[in-house]
Amino acid sequence: MTSSFTRMDESTAEQWGVIVQETFTNQPRVGEYVLGMLRSLGGITDGFAVDQLTHSLQTATLAERAGADDEMVVAALCHDVGKAISVPNHPRISAEILRPYVSDDVHWMIQVHQDFQGRHYYAHLGADPDARDQHRGHPAYALAARFADDWDQQAFDPDYDTLPLEHFEARVRAVFGAPRSF
Ligand SMILES: [Fe+2]
Repeated sequence: MTSSFTRMDESTAEQWGVIVQETFTNQPRVGEYVLGMLRSLGGITDGFAVDQLTHSLQTATLAERAGADDEMVVAALCHDVGKAISVPNHPRISAEILRPYVSDDVHWMIQVHQDFQGRHYYAHLGADPDARDQHRGHPAYALAARFADDWDQQAFDPDYDTLPLEHFEARVRAVFGAPRSF
Protein backbone atom coordinates (compact mmCIF):
# COMPACT_ATOMS: atom_id res chain seq x y z
CA MET A 1 0.00 0.00 0.00
CA THR A 2 1.32 3.40 -0.94
CA SER A 3 1.05 6.44 1.26
CA SER A 4 1.88 8.76 -1.59
CA PHE A 5 -0.39 11.05 -3.57
CA THR A 6 -2.53 10.21 -6.57
CA ARG A 7 -2.22 13.71 -8.06
CA MET A 8 0.55 16.22 -7.55
CA ASP A 9 -1.63 19.12 -6.47
CA GLU A 10 -2.55 17.07 -3.41
CA SER A 11 1.08 16.18 -2.51
CA THR A 12 2.78 17.08 0.77
CA ALA A 13 6.32 18.04 1.72
CA GLU A 14 6.59 14.81 3.70
CA GLN A 15 5.71 12.72 0.66
CA TRP A 16 8.26 14.57 -1.41
CA GLY A 17 10.84 13.93 1.28
CA VAL A 18 10.22 10.20 0.88
CA ILE A 19 10.50 10.44 -2.92
CA VAL A 20 13.77 12.35 -2.76
CA GLN A 21 15.22 9.84 -0.29
CA GLU A 22 14.04 6.84 -2.34
CA THR A 23 15.45 8.33 -5.53
CA PHE A 24 18.81 8.85 -3.84
CA THR A 25 18.78 5.34 -2.34
CA ASN A 26 17.96 3.78 -5.70
CA GLN A 27 20.62 5.66 -7.66
CA PRO A 28 22.67 2.43 -8.15
CA ARG A 29 20.04 1.22 -10.62
CA VAL A 30 21.26 3.81 -13.14
CA GLY A 31 24.62 2.13 -13.66
CA GLU A 32 22.89 -1.22 -14.12
CA TYR A 33 20.52 0.23 -16.74
CA VAL A 34 23.43 1.84 -18.59
CA LEU A 35 25.28 -1.49 -18.57
CA GLY A 36 22.15 -3.10 -19.99
CA MET A 37 22.02 -0.51 -22.78
CA LEU A 38 25.69 -1.13 -23.54
CA ARG A 39 25.11 -4.89 -23.73
CA SER A 40 22.23 -4.27 -26.16
CA LEU A 41 24.70 -2.62 -28.56
CA GLY A 42 26.05 -6.12 -29.18
CA GLY A 43 23.00 -6.63 -31.39
CA ILE A 44 23.79 -3.67 -33.65
CA THR A 45 26.31 -4.09 -36.48
CA ASP A 46 24.67 -2.32 -39.47
CA GLY A 47 27.47 -3.07 -41.92
CA PHE A 48 30.45 -2.16 -39.73
CA ALA A 49 33.33 -4.63 -39.19
CA VAL A 50 32.43 -4.91 -35.50
CA ASP A 51 29.20 -4.60 -33.52
CA GLN A 52 28.56 -1.40 -31.59
CA LEU A 53 29.39 -2.96 -28.23
CA THR A 54 32.81 -4.00 -29.52
CA HIS A 55 33.29 -0.51 -30.98
CA SER A 56 32.38 1.06 -27.64
CA LEU A 57 34.66 -1.29 -25.69
CA GLN A 58 37.51 -0.67 -28.13
CA THR A 59 37.09 3.11 -27.85
CA ALA A 60 37.26 2.81 -24.05
CA THR A 61 40.23 0.42 -24.26
CA LEU A 62 42.17 2.86 -26.45
CA ALA A 63 41.33 5.72 -24.06
CA GLU A 64 42.45 3.70 -21.05
CA ARG A 65 45.69 2.61 -22.71
CA ALA A 66 46.39 6.26 -23.56
CA GLY A 67 46.16 7.13 -19.87
CA ALA A 68 42.69 8.71 -19.77
CA ASP A 69 41.09 9.10 -16.34
CA ASP A 70 38.09 7.05 -15.22
CA GLU A 71 35.52 9.67 -16.20
CA MET A 72 36.91 9.84 -19.73
CA VAL A 73 37.12 6.06 -20.02
CA VAL A 74 33.46 5.70 -18.99
CA ALA A 75 32.48 8.51 -21.37
CA ALA A 76 34.37 6.76 -24.17
CA LEU A 77 32.55 3.54 -23.33
CA CYS A 78 29.18 5.31 -23.40
CA HIS A 79 29.74 7.75 -26.28
CA ASP A 80 27.51 5.77 -28.66
CA VAL A 81 25.10 4.30 -26.09
CA GLY A 82 22.33 6.43 -27.61
CA LYS A 83 22.41 4.11 -30.60
CA ALA A 84 20.50 1.64 -28.44
CA ILE A 85 17.56 3.99 -29.03
CA SER A 86 18.23 5.86 -32.27
CA VAL A 87 21.23 6.24 -34.56
CA PRO A 88 20.52 9.68 -36.12
CA ASN A 89 20.46 11.62 -32.85
CA HIS A 90 22.66 9.28 -30.79
CA PRO A 91 25.34 11.87 -29.91
CA ARG A 92 22.86 14.02 -28.01
CA ILE A 93 21.16 11.04 -26.38
CA SER A 94 24.52 9.70 -25.19
CA ALA A 95 25.63 13.14 -24.00
CA GLU A 96 22.41 13.69 -22.07
CA ILE A 97 22.68 10.29 -20.37
CA LEU A 98 26.19 11.25 -19.23
CA ARG A 99 25.52 14.90 -18.41
CA PRO A 100 24.90 14.75 -14.60
CA TYR A 101 27.91 12.51 -14.09
CA VAL A 102 30.76 14.12 -16.04
CA SER A 103 32.40 17.51 -16.50
CA ASP A 104 30.92 20.09 -18.88
CA ASP A 105 33.83 19.55 -21.27
CA VAL A 106 33.33 15.79 -21.44
CA HIS A 107 29.57 16.23 -21.90
CA TRP A 108 30.21 18.66 -24.77
CA MET A 109 32.80 16.35 -26.31
CA ILE A 110 30.24 13.54 -26.53
CA GLN A 111 27.48 15.84 -27.77
CA VAL A 112 29.54 17.03 -30.75
CA HIS A 113 31.62 13.90 -31.37
CA GLN A 114 30.09 13.21 -34.75
CA ASP A 115 31.12 16.65 -36.03
CA PHE A 116 34.71 15.73 -35.20
CA GLN A 117 34.40 12.15 -36.41
CA GLY A 118 33.20 13.48 -39.76
CA ARG A 119 36.78 14.37 -40.66
CA HIS A 120 37.34 10.68 -41.33
CA TYR A 121 34.25 9.76 -43.39
CA TYR A 122 31.83 12.60 -44.16
CA ALA A 123 33.37 13.04 -47.63
CA HIS A 124 31.96 9.61 -48.55
CA LEU A 125 28.45 10.76 -47.65
CA GLY A 126 28.48 14.16 -49.28
CA ALA A 127 28.73 15.92 -45.92
CA ASP A 128 31.35 18.45 -44.79
CA PRO A 129 34.52 16.79 -43.44
CA ASP A 130 35.38 20.07 -41.75
CA ALA A 131 32.19 20.13 -39.68
CA ARG A 132 34.40 20.36 -36.59
CA ASP A 133 35.53 23.82 -37.64
CA GLN A 134 32.27 25.31 -36.32
CA HIS A 135 33.57 24.49 -32.84
CA ARG A 136 36.95 26.24 -33.17
CA GLY A 137 37.68 28.25 -30.07
CA HIS A 138 35.76 25.97 -27.71
CA PRO A 139 37.86 25.17 -24.63
CA ALA A 140 37.36 21.43 -25.17
CA TYR A 141 38.12 21.47 -28.92
CA ALA A 142 41.47 19.70 -28.51
CA LEU A 143 39.89 17.13 -26.20
CA ALA A 144 37.15 16.38 -28.73
CA ALA A 145 39.68 16.15 -31.56
CA ARG A 146 41.80 13.68 -29.61
CA PHE A 147 38.75 11.60 -28.73
CA ALA A 148 37.65 11.33 -32.36
CA ASP A 149 41.04 11.04 -34.04
CA ASP A 150 42.94 8.78 -31.63
CA TRP A 151 40.18 6.64 -30.14
CA ASP A 152 36.68 6.69 -31.68
CA GLN A 153 37.55 6.57 -35.39
CA GLN A 154 40.18 3.86 -34.85
CA ALA A 155 37.94 1.53 -32.87
CA PHE A 156 36.52 -0.75 -35.56
CA ASP A 157 39.17 -3.48 -35.60
CA PRO A 158 37.90 -7.02 -34.94
CA ASP A 159 41.50 -8.19 -34.40
CA TYR A 160 42.35 -5.61 -31.73
CA ASP A 161 42.87 -6.79 -28.15
CA THR A 162 39.67 -5.19 -26.87
CA LEU A 163 38.99 -5.34 -23.14
CA PRO A 164 35.64 -6.93 -22.13
CA LEU A 165 32.73 -5.05 -20.54
CA GLU A 166 33.50 -6.72 -17.21
CA HIS A 167 36.77 -4.77 -17.12
CA PHE A 168 34.83 -1.49 -17.06
CA GLU A 169 31.74 -2.40 -15.02
CA ALA A 170 32.96 -1.15 -11.64
CA ARG A 171 33.81 2.25 -13.10
CA VAL A 172 30.43 2.50 -14.82
CA ARG A 173 28.73 1.82 -11.49
CA ALA A 174 30.97 4.35 -9.71
CA VAL A 175 30.48 7.18 -12.23
CA PHE A 176 26.70 6.69 -12.57
CA GLY A 177 26.38 6.20 -8.82
CA ALA A 178 27.55 9.72 -8.07
CA PRO A 179 25.58 12.44 -9.91
CA ARG A 180 27.03 15.94 -9.67
CA SER A 181 23.49 17.29 -9.89
CA PHE A 182 19.89 16.09 -10.08
FE1 LIG B 1 31.88 5.85 -31.99
